[in-house]
Amino acid sequence: MTQTDSRVTHLPTGSYYTPSGEYDDLYRRSMEDPEGFWAEQAESLDWFKPWEKVLDWQAPYARWFVGGKLNLSYQCLDRHVQTEVKNKVAFYWEGELGETQVLTYNEMYRLTNNYAAALKRLGVKRGDKVALYLPMIPALPVFMLACARLGAIFTVVFSAFSGQALADRVEDVGAKVIITSSGMHRRGKILPLKENAVEAAVKCPCVEKIVVVKHTGHHTEMDPDRDVWLDDILAGVDEYVAPEAMDANDPLFVLYTSGSTGKPKGILHGTAGYALWIAKTLQWAFNPDQKSVFWCTADIGWITGHSYVVFAPLELGLTSVMYEGAPDFPAIDRWWQLIAKYGVTIFYTSPTAIRMFMRHGEEWPAKYDLSSLKSLGSVGEPINPEAWLWYYRNIGHERISISDTWWQTETGGFMISPTPGIQPHPLKPGSATKPMPGVDVAVLDPDGKELPNGQTGFIVIRKPWPGMLLDIYQNQELYQQTYWSRFPGYYLPGDFCMKDQDNFLWLLGRADEVIKVAGHRISTAELESSIVGHSAVAEAAACSRPDEVKGEAIILFVTLRKGTDPSPEIKAELTRHLRATIGALATPEEIFFVNLLPKTRSGKIMRRLLKAVATGATVGDTSTLDDGASIDEARAAFEELK
Ligand code: WT7
Repeated sequence: MTQTDSRVTHLPTGSYYTPSGEYDDLYRRSMEDPEGFWAEQAESLDWFKPWEKVLDWQAPYARWFVGGKLNLSYQCLDRHVQTEVKNKVAFYWEGELGETQVLTYNEMYRLTNNYAAALKRLGVKRGDKVALYLPMIPALPVFMLACARLGAIFTVVFSAFSGQALADRVEDVGAKVIITSSGMHRRGKILPLKENAVEAAVKCPCVEKIVVVKHTGHHTEMDPDRDVWLDDILAGVDEYVAPEAMDANDPLFVLYTSGSTGKPKGILHGTAGYALWIAKTLQWAFNPDQKSVFWCTADIGWITGHSYVVFAPLELGLTSVMYEGAPDFPAIDRWWQLIAKYGVTIFYTSPTAIRMFMRHGEEWPAKYDLSSLKSLGSVGEPINPEAWLWYYRNIGHERISISDTWWQTETGGFMISPTPGIQPHPLKPGSATKPMPGVDVAVLDPDGKELPNGQTGFIVIRKPWPGMLLDIYQNQELYQQTYWSRFPGYYLPGDFCMKDQDNFLWLLGRADEVIKVAGHRISTAELESSIVGHSAVAEAAACSRPDEVKGEAIILFVTLRKGTDPSPEIKAELTRHLRATIGALATPEEIFFVNLLPKTRSGKIMRRLLKAVATGATVGDTSTLDDGASIDEARAAFEELK
């Protein structure tokens, strides 16, 4: 990414900007007296029983609000139905085919209680695991809330993951029930979710039931012992299920994400700290008020959707838009049309989406009245200044602030972002600006020494924050090793970062073997372990190259086993294999066939070299390379294609 110093000096103004305090003061207080600061913030939660201790920090484990009891579904619903928020819209839902649903807080409350009662009848109880494999339909947030109500730990599996990827997650978490839908709509097609759920259930003995939400009309075979329609297990009358009094640090959900290993890891989040962190950070980064119409375009299958489509907006009693389909279906103006239709005031999306819109031209958004917008956001990968400025001009009309929010599945909520909810401040296109209150950031060199401003190094977080993950599910060793071993006592996110002369932070991409394809995390190891599982493949190395729209695109170098020759057919077959074992996001941009992969003398694949070949960069030092021929060969394979 190129950096720019073209500071946007124009401070967005207007009645929307009602600073609730000074950023510097708030931040300083959060650093000097974190426990006092968070104790004060936690008064915004409804406690069934007050906490006794703000923080128990036994590195690398932080436990917040120890002794407190609460329930997140109560925070999101019960609290509001006792007030005038009861009849306020929680979600404007719109399906890909244009069908709509308006769900008030009261409606969400009723549905959540009824779904919780149905799950209870199926035998789901506190501590049980439930997998949710659903498209962007209202049943998904309702089931998440229903699980939270019962104290059942849920894991949402993104609906574009394959049956095999679902099975891996279901098995790791030990889900008793899979909840899915008959199918989902995507760009006019129907995708067979139920069939994928069956594939997972057959592979995982832990699964007792599949609950099916009727969504698409197509036929699906129901196994009478295992499969039930949601409609058939609802009682048909309104029921009330008392929310479980959960401990502040009881697990709420597991969400799988890619790391440097071949297997996705289960990020475990807790209850009170997470609930507080996401609500506060949403308030600080976007300054919503009771009239806001918030639209976070992320799929609920990712952390962005968990925190900022479902829980934080509901905690704050906001109205949200939820849209099922693709941004370019039936045409590239669908999102602008929805902003105009619902009077969206806060719009939060990804750089990939913005770059896609850029490519289609500003005439598309220009057709719509976007004057309801008061705040914009970006998330998922570094936003290049060009895309930032396009967004600022063509969507925000140079009136409003952009919150470029840097964070991760592991952090629960925003870590670095402009904070117009505290105080508007100048922005720089491409910089996520300043840390949130409570976030103690430093930039270190490889030896752990803090770098002076202007130099790029590893970002670390030096203090625990309430939204911090509890653990990696059933893998404490990996938790310690991934986040806490390189710089002991500090949390290591795995990104490069630079703090500039004004103390603005520039997040510069991953420092590890994680690739970001359209903002989605996938590791080279995961891609390699999938593809070597194909019988024709001997060895493989994955890397990425920059992509104008997707940020990064997947490139694979493959050596085939004896008996299979490179051909367009085997290329297509391997692509199909990747999609079937992982999902559509694993689709490679290119597969290169070579006879040898470049390896070090100790046998490690030198991905750096392959990446250099794939991007056309100079190869650099090859002194540790075992066989110079293989790199020439990779280059030849690449050249042939050009
Ligand atoms: C990784 C985390 C955060 C929710 C969605 C992705 C990259 C995320 C930004 C940003 C630069 C960003 C980082 C991070 N990333 N947001 N605003 N600027 N990079 O969550 O899948 O856990 O991925 O996404 O590399 O480590 P995730």
